[in-house]
Amino acid sequence: MKVFVPPIKSQGIKTKLVGWISSNVEELQYDRWVEPFMGTGVVAFNVRPKKALLCDSNPHLIRFYNAVKNKEITSGIVRKFLTDEGIKLLKSEGTYYYDVRKRFNEEGNPLDFLFLSRSCFNGMMRFNKKGGYNVPFCKKPNRFAQSLVTKITNQVENISQIIENGDYTFKLQDFKDTLNDIKHTDLVYSDPPYIGRHVDYFDSWTEEEELILKEGLINSESKFILSTWLSNKYRTNDYIFSVWKDCFITTKEHFYYVGGKESNRNAVYEALLSSIKLKDSISNTEMKSRIKLNLSQLTEKKKINKKTKQFSLFIENTNDLVLHEKLSNHPNSSI
Ligand SMILES: C[S@@+](CC[C@H](N)C(=O)[O-])C[C@H]1O[C@@H](n2cnc3c(N)ncnc32)[C@H](O)[C@@H]1O
Repeated sequence: MKVFVPPIKSQGIKTKLVGWISSNVEELQYDRWVEPFMGTGVVAFNVRPKKALLCDSNPHLIRFYNAVKNKEITSGIVRKFLTDEGIKLLKSEGTYYYDVRKRFNEEGNPLDFLFLSRSCFNGMMRFNKKGGYNVPFCKKPNRFAQSLVTKITNQVENISQIIENGDYTFKLQDFKDTLNDIKHTDLVYSDPPYIGRHVDYFDSWTEEEELILKEGLINSESKFILSTWLSNKYRTNDYIFSVWKDCFITTKEHFYYVGGKESNRNAVYEALLSSIKLKDSISNTEMKSRIKLNLSQLTEKKKINKKTKQFSLFIENTNDLVLHEKLSNHPNSSI
């Protein structure tokens, strides 16, 4: 699947999981796709529903996508803006980043938001206690070289076409208000912040909020899917077996590299919890007993590639041969 990458970046972006999420929802019937926590929008932009309600409590995300929808931001405007601002960044040897950050924190211009998102340290999105964007510069004064400007311009163009071809509403609101907007014919995809994992002005999450989310989703009688994690080397996410105990679960193994080193490869089991059975999902109780019995936590069926298949056929044939020889050498053999 060709993944459409949105122009805005964030640490919680689901780019690597979007193919898996899409494949799990492609056969479901629904009138409208709803996301109470749209973030960068990468999931909706790849699932590409005809109609969507996309919400978030971060005003900068909603303002940016509304500006794209209303054509206040177009690919042409982005190309010119990033080229001009990029030259200033280069000439200042990078200090101009902090001028843009100051200007953004005073005026909240969505083009400045894009500039910061693509030139900050590690594509992070973080706000201080007063709601000010506080991520430092990536320390590459030539960040907006022509190739990156073209890449971002194309991303804006792709997203604006997706928005134009659909019926998409972007709404700034808390998830509790989004829960009130849900109809029973909707398919709701929720990707809330992880409890206790990351806290900033627009992005914090408590157990109480997780319970409100679950009650709201159940009461809406809609089909719902929720992204979370099941386990890593150190821990299991016990909320899956308490708050979400009535849901189905499907998992995928995902690797991340600490400090980008192959030797520091860590696996995490990503999970999709759902009110309806998805392709490879199992019941919550079954997953619980799998963990107890130390069985695989992976519900996704592993794809066997051609070479592996040929190799196992070869082993099977060799085993048959050995078995045949053993039998024919046996004193009582009639072979
Ligand atoms: C894990 S991120 C979603 C990532 C998104 N699926 C993506 O791939 O980009 C969680 C999002 O929830 C938003 N959020 C946090 N608390 C919220 C709340 N109370 N109501 C609505 N949105 C909230 C954050 O601003 C953030 O964008």
